[in-house]
Amino acid sequence: MLRPTHIQGVSLKQLSDQFGSPLYVYDGEKIEAQVQALQQAFASVPLRIKYATKALSTLAILQLIREAGAGIDTVSIGEIHVGLMAGHEAKDIMYTPSGVAFKEIEEAVALGVMVNIDSLSLLEKFGKKYGSSVPACLRINPHILAGGNLKISVGHKESKFGISIAQLPQILALVEQYQIPIVGLHVHTGSDIYDAEVFLESGKVLFDAAMHFPKLRFLDFGGGFKVAYREGELATDIQKVGKIVGTAFQEFCARYGRPLEFWIEPGKYLVSEAGYFLTTVNVVKESSSLHFLGVDSGLNHLIRPMMYEAYHEIYNLSNTAGPKATYTVVGYICETDTFGAQRELHEVKEGDVLAIKNAGAYGFTMASNYNMRLRPAEVLIWKGKAQLIRKRETFEDLIANQIPLPS
Ligand code: LLP
Repeated sequence: MLRPTHIQGVSLKQLSDQFGSPLYVYDGEKIEAQVQALQQAFASVPLRIKYATKALSTLAILQLIREAGAGIDTVSIGEIHVGLMAGHEAKDIMYTPSGVAFKEIEEAVALGVMVNIDSLSLLEKFGKKYGSSVPACLRINPHILAGGNLKISVGHKESKFGISIAQLPQILALVEQYQIPIVGLHVHTGSDIYDAEVFLESGKVLFDAAMHFPKLRFLDFGGGFKVAYREGELATDIQKVGKIVGTAFQEFCARYGRPLEFWIEPGKYLVSEAGYFLTTVNVVKESSSLHFLGVDSGLNHLIRPMMYEAYHEIYNLSNTAGPKATYTVVGYICETDTFGAQRELHEVKEGDVLAIKNAGAYGFTMASNYNMRLRPAEVLIWKGKAQLIRKRETFEDLIANQIPLPS
């Protein structure tokens, strides 16, 4: 269903009435189905899914992800802690930070989490501190330009991420000098990657590098599978990626001399389509040229349209039939704040509830308190029942850490 009014039999409009607006709603079954789709597409290899926590890091979602059979990839100590709270074992957690203080690396090691090393400087510090006692993974920058836009392309030569593949000799020298047990190699080239061949291309970089590391346990192919944001838009053909990369991986393992685990780190693929952001129309406003819908939210809650010019489908939950009109849906933030320009919606009245699709990934996690606004509540629909998984913020939450000047 393209514009669902109900999820697992639960009315979205009713959730907005019950839990208030604006509201993030997630379809737990959809998340499970996405995990299963990956398991099926990569059935020919020993797959380990490490969900990219940054996409949606709410505790209950991480619990669901664990129950569905996936581990997690994390980028901060906070994400590691919430993952542990959700019942993920340290051994199932990967830590892939970018340029953090060594203190954070020590903290992650003490928690028993695998560290993904992304600079020669860190590799050296790691070797000096731990020698041969702590296994680690290396993040390789494969020099591949891929991804939906430059902001989310992270595997090219000019990206800050990973250790350049051209620096393999320096990597090998440090690994040899400190006897660092390198058990994994990792690449992640970007987000919204449609082309299946990109995963093969970065895989080949991993395969060639891997021949220099005899102690490997896994290769990590990163995330970045693209989902559809609008009707008819293409998504990454997961079956195709599974087939071509899976076959190449098996050939590689034969060359390498033993089977390795095959890791991936999807974020969007698991949660983007499972999320709906519900917002209420405060104002219907006709200017001389446009018909605006001013809603009770803004870029503080869903920044993707303004930050990446991302397209998110918007539809009216309060009026699902009859004539349509063209509207520009705008937020309440005091700067240009557009969710969607010139969209066709069934006629909208003030008070109507709109649904914004693909809000599961990088929606709530990128939300802020800009303009001193409160972040919304989150609801998970799971086994046919809606449950609150995060309370709406209050003004007290917002002010809690502020210290007034003495009077
Ligand atoms: N692995 C690593 C190391 C990553 O840096 C990321 C995302 C992923 C996996 C998951 O990528 P995904 O499967 O979700 O595409 N805020 C942006 C996306 C930033 C992605 C950052 N890294 C957006 O809303 O489009």
